[in-house]
Amino acid sequence: MVSHRTVRGPDEMLALGEAFGRLLRGGDVLLLSGPLGAGKTQFVKGLARGLGIQGIVNSPTFTLMKPYTGRVTLHHVDLYRLSGEAECQEIGLDDLMAPDTVLALEWPERFPRFGAESGIQLDIAFGDDPAHREVTIWSQLPRNQTLISQALDGFGQAH
Ligand SMILES: Nc1ncnc2c1ncn2[C@@H]1O[C@H](COP(=O)(O)OP(=O)(O)OP(=O)(O)O)[C@@H](O)[C@H]1O
Ligand SMILES: [Mg+2]
Repeated sequence: MVSHRTVRGPDEMLALGEAFGRLLRGGDVLLLSGPLGAGKTQFVKGLARGLGIQGIVNSPTFTLMKPYTGRVTLHHVDLYRLSGEAECQEIGLDDLMAPDTVLALEWPERFPRFGAESGIQLDIAFGDDPAHREVTIWSQLPRNQTLISQALDGFGQAH
C-alpha cells in the first residue's frame, strides 16, 4: 500500500515526523528521498521530537552522521557526501542498524544497498505552492504497514 499526503508548510512536516517518531521502534530504518531542500531534515526534526529527543537536529550534511538519544537512539545520516563503500565503513554505517536504534537516512538512493526492502520509504516532492510538499510513503515490510497507517492517523488528527 502506498500512501500520499500533502504537507502544507514546515510545521506540518514537523508534525508528520513527530507522528512517526512516536511510533518507531528500535531497529526501524527510514529512507528519506527527495531533492535538495525538499524537507527531509525538517521531517527528521519532527521524528526526533516524537522520539522524545530534546535539542536541535541540524542537517548532518557536513558531519555525515549524528547520534541523538531519546526513547531510543536516533542516527541521522546524510549519504549525499559519502563517496563510496570505504567511507560508509569509516562512519560504521552497518553498526548503525541496531536493535536499539532508529536510523534515518537522507539520499539512500546513492547507495544501492539501502533498497526498498530496507525500511520505511518516504519520498518528498515539491508541490504547486512553494510551501507545499507531496509526500509518498510506503514499505515492503508487512510489519511497517500498521505503523504507517497509525502514524498517518495521528498526523491526520492533528490537521
Ligand atoms: N511543507 C514544507 N515541508 C518541509 N519544509 C518546508 C516546507 N515548506 C517550506 N519548507 C522549507 O524548506 C526547507 C527544507 O529544508 P531541509 O533541510 O529539510 O531539506 P532537505 O530535504 O533535508 O535538503 P538536503 O537534501 O539539502 O539535505 C526548510 O527551510 C523549510 O523551512
Ligand atoms: Mg537534509
